Order: sequence, then structure tokens, then C-alpha cells
Amino acid sequence: MKTKSFVSIFLCLCMMLVAFTGCGGNSSKPTESATEAPTVAETKNDGIDYMVLVNKTHKLPDDWEQKVETVHFTNSVGDDVEVEKKAYDAYLKLKADLEKEGIYVDLDSARRSVAEQQRIMDDFTKQYGKDYALKTVATPGYSEHHTGLALDLYLIIDGKDITENEDMIKYTDIWSKIHSKLADYGFILRYLEGREYITGYGYEPWHIRYIDNPEIAKEITDKDITFEEYLGTYKGSKPVIDYGSSSVYTEDDLKAAVIQIECKFAFWNGCELKSIRYAGDDAVTDKNLARMNEINPDGKFTKVVEFLMDFHTPKDIGDLTFNPDSDYTDYQWWLARTDDGGWEIVSFGY
Ligand code: DAL
Ligand code: ZN
Repeated sequence: MKTKSFVSIFLCLCMMLVAFTGCGGNSSKPTESATEAPTVAETKNDGIDYMVLVNKTHKLPDDWEQKVETVHFTNSVGDDVEVEKKAYDAYLKLKADLEKEGIYVDLDSARRSVAEQQRIMDDFTKQYGKDYALKTVATPGYSEHHTGLALDLYLIIDGKDITENEDMIKYTDIWSKIHSKLADYGFILRYLEGREYITGYGYEPWHIRYIDNPEIAKEITDKDITFEEYLGTYKGSKPVIDYGSSSVYTEDDLKAAVIQIECKFAFWNGCELKSIRYAGDDAVTDKNLARMNEINPDGKFTKVVEFLMDFHTPKDIGDLTFNPDSDYTDYQWWLARTDDGGWEIVSFGY
């Protein structure tokens, strides 16, 4: 996917714009090499909060670095991986349990510094564009990976390391077996499919989060809710997504655009998404396409699409430039793409 985005605001209200980037961190690696015993990197744990929420609107607590105790180990492809100590112990138990079933995993990435997250962000933005990065990578300072409690697994199948996201995602049966065991060891799956409007990220079957409490992990898993919903920071109900009928775009085209919108929406702290509707093929005109290319001349877009959103703002509006506790209806989102690129959000507003 390729993207570059600019946000421009139309007539009335506008809002903040944020840009993001790159996670993943899957480099090409040699195969085979034994996982080494971990070394304790830091011993300053005077009580981290294992239920800490770090997401698009909640940054890493300032005192985290002073408190977290981590270990380092070398994974099967020879990379150094740093993990919070208890999360690592729990991961080893999960791994051993999976191996009894013939499933082999290792850790691609766990704790990351803000500088490392920035490097990933820069790479992803350069390679795929801002909007792909937006749904894939957290803004430095706002990544759960900073905690050491978020672990990215990779699969080892028939002795071969499967580390690239686009390859790993195909192994749906293996992931569902892995996911069924997470809660037993105090982990949850963090970025659920279809909850992008809450988590702000696309589905990541490999990104697991240690919460140090198997009972709560089981409750979250059984209820099929996000961490945000469990903690009560997202209170809305399931939005209505209406792809309408299009003779221009497939439903997959439209779904990809909606995910981009939802990942942006997740920055609007406390806003509840009610619905997103395809505005129809009537909006797919040369005139609107020209407007997209005028707003972002670098885009060289060949396709345009419009969606309409209804949402409700919170009483405490914080930094957002919306009216508090208000319904917004038919809020416009315009996206564009090149023939072989991903959707970019070109403008939103009224
Ligand atoms: N991939 C996750 C969202 C991160 O970058 O933290
Ligand atoms: Zn991750």
C-alpha cells in the first residue's frame, strides 16, 4: 500500500490533524539460531500498573521508565528483544503450552524506546505513506510497546520463520489456537478485527498484551471486548457501517477506506461513532477527483470516494474543536487513491 495524506478542512468546522507511522519492525532475517537465556536488564520495579492503558489518546506514564523491570533475550532470528520481566515469564509458559500442540512462536518485538518507535514510524511513512502508517503504527510516546507489556509474536512453521505481517496474517487457524490460550497466561489480544474505531489500529493477530491477571483476561476475551471497553474509556455501542451499493467499488475497496477513517476517528478522545455510510457513486466524479488533486497535488489520485459519518462528542471535549456533548450528523470524509495505492484521507469536515 502506498499513501501520503494531507488534511484540509472544508467550509465550517475543522479539526486537528495527526499523522502517524510505523510499527511492525519485521526485518528480513536469517533462519535458525537458538533462543538464548534472558539477562535481567533493569531492576527498579517498585510497582508498575499492569492494567495501564496506552493508546492513541493515552500516552506512556512519565514515571514508567523508572519503574519497569525488563529482560533481554535473543530470538530465533538473532535479534535482541527486551520484555517486561513478568510478561516474559508468562510468555515462556504460553510458548511451552503451544509447543505441546505443535505450534512454534517467538517474539519479533516487545519493548521499544520512543526513538525506536520513531524509526519504525519514519520507515513505514516512507514506504507506505501516512495513512497506512496511521492504522499500523503508534505515534512515538503513544505505543503500547513502550511499556514492555505488548509482545509481537511471529510464527515458526516447519522450521521456517514467518515474520512479515502480510505472511503471518494468512495463518488464521494457528492464530485462533494461539488466541484461545492467551487468557490462561494473563494476555489479551489487543487489536481486534472490526474494532478499529475503538483501538485505532487494524487487526493484528500477533500483538498480545500482558495484563498480569488471567481472570480479567478471560473476562475480556469471553466478552469479546477491547481493553478500552473493559476500562470504560470507550462507551459507545457498535456503529452501523453501510457500504450501500456501488458499481464503481467493491465492498473490499470500501471496507479499506472505512478502516482508514476509523483509525483516524480513534484519535478523537471520548467521541462515540454512530454510523458511517458510503455517500454513493454520485460523488465519484471527475470534478471531485480534481478537487482531491488540488488539495494534495502530490497524491496523483485516480479514484475518489466520499463517506458520511454520524458521531457524538463527549461532555469533556478536551483539546478537540467540536462542541461538547453534541451529535454530529452527515460529517463528510473524502478519500482518494491511485490505481495501485491505498486510500488516503484528503479532507474531513462540513
Ligand atoms: N503496532 C502498534 C499499534 C504499535 O506501533 O504500537
Ligand atoms: Zn505490536
